[in-house]
Amino acid sequence: MKWFVAGLAASSFAITAFAEGENVSINPPADGSVSREDGLAAWQRIYEVTSHPRCSNCHVGADNIPMWSGPSYGKSRPHGMNVNAGDSRIGAEYVQCATCHAYREGSNDRPHAAPQVAMNWQLAPVEAEWFGKSMVEICNQLRDPDRNGGRDFQEIASHLDHDLILHWAWNPGGGREPAPYSLQEHVDDVLAWGVAGYPCANDE
Ligand code: HEC
Ligand code: HEC
Repeated sequence: MKWFVAGLAASSFAITAFAEGENVSINPPADGSVSREDGLAAWQRIYEVTSHPRCSNCHVGADNIPMWSGPSYGKSRPHGMNVNAGDSRIGAEYVQCATCHAYREGSNDRPHAAPQVAMNWQLAPVEAEWFGKSMVEICNQLRDPDRNGGRDFQEIASHLDHDLILHWAWNPGGGREPAPYSLQEHVDDVLAWGVAGYPCANDE
């Protein structure tokens, strides 16, 4: 299986480089120890995270418009104030995201303030479109190196550990609902799914 082989090829390097996470531990289960069934169960939980508003509001499509969705917003709608991230995904063509989403200590505690993290606030790459996508669509995107930033599962786990936006998503403050499970549990699920060979429900 293509996904599995690609994962194995990169794993000997990745284990040395990424064994110590900065905030979570990155300890993949032993090769061959995760059944397809358990891999699919891990995927189910991964999907609950990726489809959650704290993630999907930024993982939007080619219209380059972030979303305001989740319980703190009432009904789902495009980002207010005509915000458009442009093809740069960072608002360079219009108003930069950082104009409002620039980091100041403690400001995420205020409801309806612009969320802020100590790194560039911007849309995810258009290939990683999750908003409104099905479980199978997101599954196939996340295991496709052409659409996931060229990452295997250990590199996805490492990215999750290092991205401050994700730390915000599990601890957003201001009355926003955090992403489900925890960063550590999400990382563990990504590792289990990868070791199981990246199963998706549409595989034969
Ligand atoms: C503020 C917008 C924003 C939010 C919110 C956000 N992301 Fe992302 N995401 C990004 C950006 C930007 C990248 C590209 C970063 C890179 O490739 O270095 C990215 C890339 C990723 C990737 C790399 C793989 C891929 O398919 O591109 C993963 C995995 C990911 N995000 C997971 C999540 C999860 C899980 C959440 C919620 C807990 C989340 N993101 C919330 C902006 C966001
Ligand atoms: C004029 C100020 C302003 C600009 C510019 C701006 N935002 Fe926002 N953004 C906000 C405010 C305020 C909120 C919170 C609204 C609320 O909670 O009611 C927000 C919320 C968001 C959310 C929802 C976060 C969540 O899950 O609750 C995303 C995603 C987002 N912005 C992305 C962007 C991106 C990407 C850009 C650049 C293209 C951008 N914003 C530019 C003010 C701004």
